[in-house]
Amino acid sequence: MEPYRYHVFVCDQQKPEGVPCCSARGSARTIEALRREIAARHLGDQVQITVCGSLGVCERGPNVVVYPEGVWYSSVQPADVPELVETHFQQGRVLERLVNSDAAALKAEITGNRDKMLAAMRAKDAAGILPDDLAQTLRAFQESRVLLTAVELDVFTAIGEGRSGVEVAGVLRTDPRATEMLLNALAAMGTLTKQDGVFHNTPLIARYFTAGAPDDSRAATMHTVHLWERWSTLTACVRAGTSVSYQEHAERREDWTEAFIAAMHRNAAERAPHVVAAVGTEGVARMLDVGGGSGAYSIAFAKASEKLRADLLDLPAVLPIAQRHIEKAALTDRITTRAGDLRTDKLGEGYNLVFVSAICHMLNPDENLDLMKRCYAALAPQGRLVIQDFILEPNKTAPKFAALFALNMLVGTQAGSSYSEPEYAAWLREAGFQEVRHIRLPGPSGLIVGTRG
Ligand SMILES: C[S@@+](CC[C@H](N)C(=O)[O-])C[C@H]1O[C@@H](n2cnc3c(N)ncnc32)[C@H](O)[C@@H]1O
Ligand code: FES
Repeated sequence: MEPYRYHVFVCDQQKPEGVPCCSARGSARTIEALRREIAARHLGDQVQITVCGSLGVCERGPNVVVYPEGVWYSSVQPADVPELVETHFQQGRVLERLVNSDAAALKAEITGNRDKMLAAMRAKDAAGILPDDLAQTLRAFQESRVLLTAVELDVFTAIGEGRSGVEVAGVLRTDPRATEMLLNALAAMGTLTKQDGVFHNTPLIARYFTAGAPDDSRAATMHTVHLWERWSTLTACVRAGTSVSYQEHAERREDWTEAFIAAMHRNAAERAPHVVAAVGTEGVARMLDVGGGSGAYSIAFAKASEKLRADLLDLPAVLPIAQRHIEKAALTDRITTRAGDLRTDKLGEGYNLVFVSAICHMLNPDENLDLMKRCYAALAPQGRLVIQDFILEPNKTAPKFAALFALNMLVGTQAGSSYSEPEYAAWLREAGFQEVRHIRLPGPSGLIVGTRG
């Protein structure tokens, strides 16, 4: 059974530097052109495109195979795409100038390439050379650092509609030689293009990393820039068993807090619809958002129910940021902010919902148990505590995001970590909660829900 008239496989395999592959020969641009052309000709319900790994004709990519006929095209460039789509998918004819018409020769080429590749792998293994993926992981920090430095310097805004390296250095007041090197590396990574010595942002980069762009993500990305500094101390933290650069929130620079809350707000914008849908607002008249940050979740819950009023508790330095978002959402009449210390303060009483999002990972187990007890006291009968966090499986090696996040807490907090479902369940039960449940959400975080009897 064929749900589509044509099923098109396009190779987008990336291989190590210097090894021929479709990715190095521009498959991403061909795939984009195919998708655009198919949409423009309203063929989306007839032609399905699937990106795939190597088809074995790596020196002549980008390669495309069309089923049900099993027609193999090679060296398909973006400029060929309109003709290919029209000829094959609209007229039902093979595009002769790109097709591999000799099946036996094609098969021999694929087999020959496979034998060469296996021989190269065996030789590498015999010589004791690191496998490519391991070597790539060891060096991955380089590309990360290049991008973070570009955001830190605001390179992409400086490039604007296109500038040379010298011009960018002039705008940024940086060294021209070093700036050119940075821009060349960014171009090699595919985040910029360079033509006649002039650099241009790709549409993706312009969308997220330039001033005034609708999805400007620079402020939130600055949080990752700050995390880099902490992660550089990981070795010392593993020796010491705690963060070696820990700063109380009050000691942090204002730009640190702004970037941190911007990053939380960006994450929350994506997560909040899932959370509100999973938790629901039925029977919730009063909600407490413990360590509510930007207010993104209070706002999402308040928007979901006109009957809901929320109190947001956070540190004094964060409340003006939350206020800004609450005012923007026109919810000042239903969301109140309150300065307090979630580690020690009584949290109030009579709430139907206490929401604790991205808080438990910064506390140690005893502090978490103590927080759960105070949350219990703050709830009305039948009220619910909802915790959102990166929840580990019992053996703590999965999900990978949560296991790595535990180290993010090691380098940044005194005794925080990611915790497992059994750990949360034990704290909640000891605090008096009944019906403890784990709700899995799409994405890296999940919910632990407990009900006060
Ligand atoms: C990781 S953010 C989570 C923000 C928000 N709940 C969310 O999920 O987007 C942690 C929040 O806890 C706040 N916080 C940290 N220590 C606190 C304390 N001792 N008392 C109150 N709030 C605190 C921070 O200011 C920050 O807003
Ligand atoms: S990398 Fe595309 S065919 Fe091998």
